[in-house]
This record gives sequence, structure tokens and C-alpha cells, in this order.
Amino acid sequence: KDMKPFVVNFSDIGIDFKGNHIVRKYNDIKHIFKTTDPTLERENPVIYEVFEGPIQEKEGELMFLITILYPGTVNGEFFMTKGHYHTVENTAEVYLGLRGKGLILCQTKKGEFEAVEIGPNKVVYIPPFWAHRTVNISDEPLIFFAVYPAHAGHDYETVEKEGFKKRIFRGDNGILFVEQ
Ligand code: 6PG
Ligand code: NI
Repeated sequence: KDMKPFVVNFSDIGIDFKGNHIVRKYNDIKHIFKTTDPTLERENPVIYEVFEGPIQEKEGELMFLITILYPGTVNGEFFMTKGHYHTVENTAEVYLGLRGKGLILCQTKKGEFEAVEIGPNKVVYIPPFWAHRTVNISDEPLIFFAVYPAHAGHDYETVEKEGFKKRIFRGDNGILFVEQ
């Protein structure tokens, strides 16, 4: 049936967001990190969660969501999302930072790589054909809003096979980019 205009309230994340709630715990995604941590394996904390708007995944619609990426490291490697290309590759995405500080790692199948900052008042534009992964480089939850064409879909497999060019670690004075 046709949708009517509606509003959701950011301050009610998890209450007012009536769509899918995706929760990724450490043991679900531990293979994306360079090393494993037995303590994290035992405690299996939530690394990030996504609250999607109640939108159908079809052309013409815009999916919107909020991601909360918790702070922490796996032996110094900052918590991050799995990362993906969109299955319909010619689809862009916009992120708006709400809280915390992070990096969006972006890369193409041709081998281009960029890392851009996200945080409050920062809008990140991810063009079509660029894979994207978010890294929390702060000590508080990184929260951002995102919008993309609702039919885009997620290709996680390519990233699982090829990884991202760089990994982000906590350094003695700042962050370290490490070749994968
Ligand atoms: C999307 C967005 C974004 C992303 C989450 C979790 O296309 O849906 O890029 O919402 O899905 O931040 O990241 P992963 O989907 O890579 O686990
Ligand atoms: Ni995306």
C-alpha cells in the first residue's frame, strides 16, 4: 500500500525506529579483524547496531537508518563495520555524523582508496561503486545517520574476500594506518 509522510525522532532511537534492528556482536564479525581476542570472544559484546526506517527495499524508495558503532579495539585495531559494496553498484550513499568520531574507509574494485572523517556536522558522500566501512576512532559511541536508494542491497562477499587496503589501529599518539 502507499506510504504517507511520517516523522521519526532521533532521541528515541530504538523506540521510534519501527524497521529492522540489526545487531552485530563480536563473534559474528570477528573474522574481519586482523587478530582475535579471547576476552572479547568470551564476553561477545555488541560491536554495532543498525536501526533501519520502515522502508521497502524497492526502487524509488530511500532507505534511511542510524548506525551506532561502539568504541573499543581488538588488540589495538579499532572496532569497525563489516563494510560492503552495494549489490546494485551504481548507487551512492550519504552519511551524517551525529556523535563521536570515526573514519569511513572507501575503496573501488579498481584499487582506489580514501579515508574520510565522520562526526557531528560532517556529511560524507559515498559515490556509486565505492565500498564503505566505518571505523570508530573515538572513546564514545559513533552515531551516524545514512540514506541510500532502498533497492541497493549489500554485497559483503567481495569485501570478505578482498578486505580493505588499510586497517586502522590505535597508535601511541593518534591513529595508525596499517597496510592490510
Ligand atoms: C548501508 C549503510 C549502513 C551500513 C551500516 C552497517 O548501506 O546500509 O552503508 O547502514 O549498513 O553502517 O555496516 P555493514 O552493513 O557494513 O555491516
Ligand atoms: Ni551502504
